[in-house]
Amino acid sequence: MSRQKIVAGNWKMNKSLQEAKTLVEMILNQVNDFDEVIKIIIPPFPYLDSINSQLSKKENFFLGAQNCHTNANGAFTGEISANMLSSVGCKFVLVGHSERRQYFKEKDADFVSKIKEALKYNIQPIFCVGETIYERKTDNHFKLITEQLTAVLTQFTLIEFSKFILAYEPVWAIGTGETATAQQAQEMHAYIRSVVADIYDSNIANDVSILYGGSCNAQNAQELFKCKDVDGGLIGGAALNADDFSKIIFSF
Ligand code: PGA
Repeated sequence: MSRQKIVAGNWKMNKSLQEAKTLVEMILNQVNDFDEVIKIIIPPFPYLDSINSQLSKKENFFLGAQNCHTNANGAFTGEISANMLSSVGCKFVLVGHSERRQYFKEKDADFVSKIKEALKYNIQPIFCVGETIYERKTDNHFKLITEQLTAVLTQFTLIEFSKFILAYEPVWAIGTGETATAQQAQEMHAYIRSVVADIYDSNIANDVSILYGGSCNAQNAQELFKCKDVDGGLIGGAALNADDFSKIIFSF
């Protein structure tokens, strides 16, 4: 798949069902006919089916999930499979988000299994990588990003990888109000492309969409999206407000 402009809203564990429906309604009203950007709404699990109905038949609006299990079904109390996600219309799933790494101790092997499972059901993974402030301050950020990418990508064929979207989310920027500068984002996105080129080839590295995430908002999105290797945003806090999220979508 060739590179695309994408804005994805990761709502995390926020909103009631009614609030969720209203938010989607307001976003649709504001950006309905702006087709040049792919919009992905990633709400909590219980709202997927309902939001799928709101998004169905909308051009370039897609549903995503925040997580999936490594198995298709079975005795895994409290878990949700890619199989189920596909049955409620999900086309994307987040994998490797730093909150899953930090709070749920998910590791590279989990990400590989989850992505394999997602791909079986035609769900595209949005695979997230990012360094902590300690790794950046000690100048280990490129090394860490290389490790995070290599551990997972080397387990997939080029054809499988062509379904991936990547997201660079520096942990120090997530939910902190401290965004990476456009220069820092561009530098890392270009670097990520070079790692992908080393693992696969330069064509696929050039084709993969790489989103920036971490306090991306209506004020800074334009500057970030201007960067040559930034193809859009994975938005947390600012995705919870229709005006802000819409402004971000219009920031290309
Ligand atoms: P944030 O979150 O925009 O609130 O920093 C981004 C993310 O975690 O995906």
